[in-house]
Amino acid sequence: MSRAHNILVVDDERNVRATLKSVLEDEGYGVRTVSSGEEAIKATKRFHPDLVLLDIWLPGIDGLKVLEKLGDADNNPVVVMISGHGSVESAVRSTKLGAFDFIEKPLSLDRVLLVVANGLKQKVLQDENLRLRAEVSERWTMIGESDAIVALRKQINRAAPTNGRVLIFGENGTGKELVAHCIHALSQRSSKSFVEINCAAIPGELIESELFGHVKGAFTGAVSDKQGKLDLADGGTLFLDEIGDMSLRTQSKVLRALQEQTFQPVGSTDDHSVDVRIIAATNKDLQEEIKSGRFREDLYYRINVIPFHVPSLRERRDDVPLLAEHFMKGAAAEYGTGLKRLSEPAVARLTAYRWPGNVRQLKNVCERLMVMVADETIQETDLEPAIDAFGPSDERDSSGDLELREARNLFERRFILTKLREHAGNVKQTAMALNIERSHLYRKMKSYGIEPGDGAGE
Ligand SMILES: Nc1ncnc2c1ncn2[C@@H]1O[C@H](COP(=O)(O)OP(=O)(O)OP(=O)(O)O)[C@@H](O)[C@H]1O
Ligand SMILES: [Mg+2]
Repeated sequence: MSRAHNILVVDDERNVRATLKSVLEDEGYGVRTVSSGEEAIKATKRFHPDLVLLDIWLPGIDGLKVLEKLGDADNNPVVVMISGHGSVESAVRSTKLGAFDFIEKPLSLDRVLLVVANGLKQKVLQDENLRLRAEVSERWTMIGESDAIVALRKQINRAAPTNGRVLIFGENGTGKELVAHCIHALSQRSSKSFVEINCAAIPGELIESELFGHVKGAFTGAVSDKQGKLDLADGGTLFLDEIGDMSLRTQSKVLRALQEQTFQPVGSTDDHSVDVRIIAATNKDLQEEIKSGRFREDLYYRINVIPFHVPSLRERRDDVPLLAEHFMKGAAAEYGTGLKRLSEPAVARLTAYRWPGNVRQLKNVCERLMVMVADETIQETDLEPAIDAFGPSDERDSSGDLELREARNLFERRFILTKLREHAGNVKQTAMALNIERSHLYRKMKSYGIEPGDGAGE
């Protein structure tokens, strides 16, 4: 067990308090006892109980009132009611008001211990959930004070509640997916699902069954019915990532689904209709794609109701220091290490760099620096190898010699990218071609900031 749990016992009968205290202490819990509702509320603020055993009948304010007040307590304790003779009905009612459970007098100590143990399990789950929720919202915070980001944030706030279809343009790693999440989180659909499909990562033949679902036997390998992402996103948002990579055939099916508001799972004639907001993203120039016949113009106009342009990092260099600090904090929290700071020349160098891989590259560089640099202050000289590992820099290439290690990193990164492209971004095949374990290749790709999609052809 991680830490001893605290339990507050609230009962006006002295012997009940004494018995519960000794039994619960024997189990290793920290226990406080009080005899009235007023005291219970005060004690909760000081003692931060994980669980409260609360008598329903109390002099002064009664147990149900106390239960209500405990609902506002910071640490949100789990409450178990104790009911005396004739108060079972209230006890049942209390569970509707948020009590976890109730126990009846005369107390069976086995039952007390069982209910307490279950209640504490519930408490651990509750806390875990709160933590995760806080983490998720943290995950989707958009850092930046540059004019471009301020304007983007405004645009997100304006567009989010409207339900309008959004098309997000931007270079690799600029934060398109982040923008999509922010729009969803600020929309009226935020309590429903955000479902993502990456059109570049899924082979053409599978994408329709991913999107629309399929019925058992629709094709070889369809061993059971499968719900499509459109169904999964019902009431929420569907994010069509890398929509520029969708085949023409799938484009026409998607267009039809958007026009008619209905679709049919692969192999079925049943019409499904769903209420889904579409957000799409691409790093391609779709006008160009349309001209060259690779993207349907009518689909383009359907999805591009509200266009978003996420600026490259070089167009908002002012944000580099803020982002770097944010990513270094994140890495410190994740790896459980102390925070490091960047020397002024290091900040200047990072700000001046041209970031071909944009924010994602900066994030990778920061994470690498946190791992690689032993000193508490990161110096300008520490940056070169970290940056070179994540993307060739023109400045470096023209400024002269590369040190052996940097040159090797640079070469290895390019080599992996080339091999990935040869295998259309398929990591398994690439690992086989390079004669290394797939997990090893993944680690290398991660350290060099390479995504499988980077090899999918340009
Ligand atoms: N303004 C920002 N503040 C904080 N984190 C950001 C910001 N922009 C991007 N990131 C982070 O950078 C990484 C890359 O962002 P994201 O995946 O949204 O980019 P993308 O444009 O979808 O990239 P790709 O084109 O490669 O798919 C993510 O970890 C994201 O959380
Ligand atoms: Mg993306």
